[in-house]
Amino acid sequence: MIKKISIDELKPGMEVVQLASDLWKHLPYMYTEPGVIESEEVVARLRKEGYQQVFVEVPDVSGLSDEERLDMLIVDRDIMPLEKERTPFDEAMPQSQVTYENAMKLAIQIVNDAKLGRKMDVGAAMETASAIVDAAISNPDTLVCLSKLSSFDNYTYTHSINVAAIAVVFGEFIGMERDELTLLGLAGMMHDVGKTSVPAKIINKPDRLTKLECTEVKRHPGYGCTILEQTTDIPKKVIEAVMFHHERFNGSGYPSGLIRKEIPANARILGMADVYDALTSDRCYKQAIQPNKALGIMYGMRDQDFDPMEIQLFIKCLGIFPSGSFVRLNTGDYALVFETDARTPLFPKIKIVMDRKMRPIRMQEVNLATQSEEDTPIEILECADPSAYRKTLMTYLSPN
Ligand SMILES: [Fe+2]
Repeated sequence: MIKKISIDELKPGMEVVQLASDLWKHLPYMYTEPGVIESEEVVARLRKEGYQQVFVEVPDVSGLSDEERLDMLIVDRDIMPLEKERTPFDEAMPQSQVTYENAMKLAIQIVNDAKLGRKMDVGAAMETASAIVDAAISNPDTLVCLSKLSSFDNYTYTHSINVAAIAVVFGEFIGMERDELTLLGLAGMMHDVGKTSVPAKIINKPDRLTKLECTEVKRHPGYGCTILEQTTDIPKKVIEAVMFHHERFNGSGYPSGLIRKEIPANARILGMADVYDALTSDRCYKQAIQPNKALGIMYGMRDQDFDPMEIQLFIKCLGIFPSGSFVRLNTGDYALVFETDARTPLFPKIKIVMDRKMRPIRMQEVNLATQSEEDTPIEILECADPSAYRKTLMTYLSPN
């Protein structure tokens, strides 16, 4: 089990793990050299070099897999969402896809307007956010699927739309009102607009950033707010969420080092959606972490980055194998998860689409939660990497 700890908790004998993500790899305060810490001297040296945090492997005494542990954790809780009337996945998907594509066009426009210092089209942004809310109410799984499988590959734009979509899906899950959800979606689309003011060579640098470069990156929430304040009449709540989306539960975030509930709720939600999408996205210089592993890692960041209760709810919302996960089954076949249920997170609905040699087969839908007792039950063994098959997989999700 992986846990994020502060350098003060690091002890000789602990094993540092390297996580393939640019999210922290290049940050000067995150120590990422994999291996066992040999001595107190090493810890002292790392502290002196300015490292503040590290991911370590902590021994697991329960004998459970990561997935089983997450399952226990999230099904034991009293809080369960209300049963909601949803449009069936296949019926809702075409409209969600149109919404997602329109949102992508808007994301490009937002970045261009910001770069050129043009006034933003708040009306169009509100409309797009509202369409994302409609999709989340109609069938949230369609949005979660699209955020992982859509074939747009420009991270700058996909990331802002994915963060908006995932944040709205979570907000809807915890019962936020429609108008509030629209503001949350808007904040998601705008959250990183300030990066347009940071030199591209810093934003795209694959190596560790210098302290100076890091300071510059940390200014992006502030830059974003300046852009929004100067060029638009966006509601204060949206600006606040953009300003504080990198604040963290224990006060280690930026720009203000706010702690716990000092951080506005929308900013806390954006923070979780932002980390989830960054971990699970392919970038030119790193491979994505699969959704189930990403949620395990985020659970290991509780108390540090995230409120422990809120991250549990977030996992409950997305499921242990989130929609859009490409999974390998105990039969050897491969399937796509397309619907999750918070009551049975280990047993989502799947579409079996490829055989053990990754050859397409006639699609078969199975609800893993309601299999007949006579047959050997189909189980998910692990998440597989969908990146080479994204286009093919999308055709199963949206046949039109
Ligand atoms: Fe950001």
